[in-house]
Amino acid sequence: MKVNQAEFIISAVSPEQYPNTGFPEIALAGRSNVGKSSFINKMVNRKKLARTSSKPGKTQTLNYYLIENQFYFVDVPGYGYAKVSKTERAKWGEMLETYFTQRETLTLALSVVDFRHPPTQDDIQMYEFFKYYQIPVLVVATKADKIPKSKWNKHESITKKTLDFDKEDQFVIFSAETGEGIDEAWKVIESFL
Ligand code: GTP
Ligand code: MG
Repeated sequence: MKVNQAEFIISAVSPEQYPNTGFPEIALAGRSNVGKSSFINKMVNRKKLARTSSKPGKTQTLNYYLIENQFYFVDVPGYGYAKVSKTERAKWGEMLETYFTQRETLTLALSVVDFRHPPTQDDIQMYEFFKYYQIPVLVVATKADKIPKSKWNKHESITKKTLDFDKEDQFVIFSAETGEGIDEAWKVIESFL
């Protein structure tokens, strides 16, 4: 998809604030600082549409971006950020659970993981959650620019094995630095629209 139109719609914390257009939603889940917001920016070719930061915990609400007046990317706050209080963590969990279990227009979950390292316990849990609720998943293994291509195969096997990756799901190696995986990711996303 060549994106000409991408706009920020709303930062939502509760279902009343979710848009009611009925457009499909592609939601991004992943560890804090893994590169979810950067993924959105790279995919729509806009450097600063979604706020990114070198410090984890930048995205705190469900941020809706309308793409080509056709579907939404939903940027979800990251998990696994140590400096978050218990209360905040509980609030976060509730918000995500509500969204992922009740949102009828949710079409595909993007599980963004760091390609350099095996998925964390939190990554595994998130993926299992999607499997349990039968939400289709595209695993985006990002920051691929940080490891040599000769090691990609090995890292892909480790990532899939650690997640107990379901062959029904999709897997894309990605880099927001080099643009690796953009076309492949679009192909998968478009097949769900
Ligand atoms: P939260 O909003 O805190 O959950 O983080 P996030 O997942 O949205 O991460 P974000 O996109 O803000 O990126 C975090 C940091 O990783 C930034 O410094 C990015 O520049 C960097 N980054 C993201 N993607 C890539 C990538 O593919 N390659 C490299 N080298 N750096 C990346
Ligand atoms: Mg973010």
